[in-house]
Amino acid sequence: MLQMLQVVVHVQHMVGMHLAHLLNLLSQLLYPAERMLIVSVLYLRFDRCYLLQMLQKNRQRAYEEHHPEKDEGSFPEVHFLSPPAALFYHTCPARGQGEHRTGANMAHEGATSGRSASMEKVRLGIIGVGGMGSAHAKMVQEVEEVQLAAVADIDPAVAKSVGEQYNVPFFTDYKQCIDSGLVDAVIVATPHPVHPEVAEYAFSKGLHVLTEKPMAINPVEADRMINAAKRAGRVFAVMFQMRTERPYRIARKAMEQGVVGEIMRTELVSAWYRNQAYYDSAEWRATWVGEGGGVLVNQAPHALDMFCWLAGLPAKVTASTRTRLHDIEVEDEAFALLEYPNGAHGYLYTTTNEAPGTNRIEIAGDRGKIVIQDGQVTIRRVEPPLREFTFSAADMWSGPKTEPVEIEVEEMPAGHAQVTRNFARAILYGEPLLSPGEEGIWCVELASGIILSSKRGKTVSLPVDRAEYDALLQELKASSQPKRKVLGQRVSDPNIVR
Ligand SMILES: NC(=O)c1ccc[n+]([C@@H]2O[C@H](COP(=O)([O-])OP(=O)(O)OC[C@H]3O[C@@H](n4cnc5c(N)ncnc54)[C@H](O)[C@@H]3O)[C@@H](O)[C@H]2O)c1
Repeated sequence: MLQMLQVVVHVQHMVGMHLAHLLNLLSQLLYPAERMLIVSVLYLRFDRCYLLQMLQKNRQRAYEEHHPEKDEGSFPEVHFLSPPAALFYHTCPARGQGEHRTGANMAHEGATSGRSASMEKVRLGIIGVGGMGSAHAKMVQEVEEVQLAAVADIDPAVAKSVGEQYNVPFFTDYKQCIDSGLVDAVIVATPHPVHPEVAEYAFSKGLHVLTEKPMAINPVEADRMINAAKRAGRVFAVMFQMRTERPYRIARKAMEQGVVGEIMRTELVSAWYRNQAYYDSAEWRATWVGEGGGVLVNQAPHALDMFCWLAGLPAKVTASTRTRLHDIEVEDEAFALLEYPNGAHGYLYTTTNEAPGTNRIEIAGDRGKIVIQDGQVTIRRVEPPLREFTFSAADMWSGPKTEPVEIEVEEMPAGHAQVTRNFARAILYGEPLLSPGEEGIWCVELASGIILSSKRGKTVSLPVDRAEYDALLQELKASSQPKRKVLGQRVSDPNIVR
């Protein structure tokens, strides 16, 4: 009797319907003969936990149909192995001889055969475990590809509290954490101006880096981070969890399929309200020295990234920024006129002064239009395309027909955990990154271009002139004043953290 069946599935382009067929087939075919199913998945775009749960559920149902007399406890297991472990299994002389092997003991075999056990999971350090970093410490517990191995925070009480909570070593110096040999990769969740030095140090020591947004506040530092990752040959990603959200993934796929055609106009409105207590919560917030900008470098980066991910980086910005509501020295409102390389125009507005909030992106082209408003995406195709219809129509009041476009995207959970999982899989199996460092620089270019345009009163070309922006930032930092009030709160945002 067969003891084990290994299935290697390549599901990079698999859609939900195909997955359902596959699950059905596996559950029906495999039962009741096999004791164990090992599924190793290459380039998986589905969430592995999701696939595992589905398989487990389907197989349990099939098993129960065949064995109504057995109790729940006797249901055999389904194991996932990473492709390296699966390959190792193929070359293992003792395989398939009736021994009930688990993913864990195979990882052990891999280690004794010279493969590092850490290849099975990425040993992760978190640098900066305040509001966001402590939420990440909790979040990584649900990511099976990583193991929290150490934390670091410049504040000893914070480092100790999070280290003890998760029973991992803690450090007050990020360099000691990186040098400890305990971690293969780090999440950087310090205030943004600190991201570049931590990332560059980690790369110089051969670690992989997932940095919080924005990767840097100054394009010249962002360049340095990208170059350091390339030099080290390490994985570099930015925490842009909105890239995992379904409406944006649908919009991105529509753009890739050319549904919109040539871009004619864009619009971005990103309003995320913040009160004064938020700004007073930490010394670094909303100061030129501590943060390097206001809404443009803290709240807007997600929306700026999404805007550039969908429509590309504008070629020129003419902008204005101001501090309208809060008692802070950096901007809480910015607006900009944009010009794209093809001559299309755009408008951008971002603020922390408005409630309720707004997340709105509109991209109009000669073949269609995409509107994303507060989590809903609407895509319409224009038929025939505007450039054709405009000159072929005879009736002076006629307009082109527009029809809705349905776009399918693969099932995928959204959020920080999925970006982290993808980062780990990129390290373990070379899975393509959802938000690579090279793209993380887009929001830095756009934010810096807007600040430069506003402060110098001129239209600015992108990419931003590095020396010019660096000089402006030094001036702004020199004008920075110590804060009158600091509450000293480090609390994870309950709107984004479960
Ligand atoms: N992706 C998201 O959804 C999201 C949400 C919130 C914040 N963030 C980002 O996370 C980062 C941190 O924001 P926060 O709200 O957690 O701030 P925070 O002030 O609550 O936490 C920052 C922590 O970093 C520590 N720190 C400062 N300098 C350090 C150093 N040199 N070495 C080690 N630790 C150091 C501080 O002591 C503090 O505990 C920011 O870049 C922010 O933009 C991202």
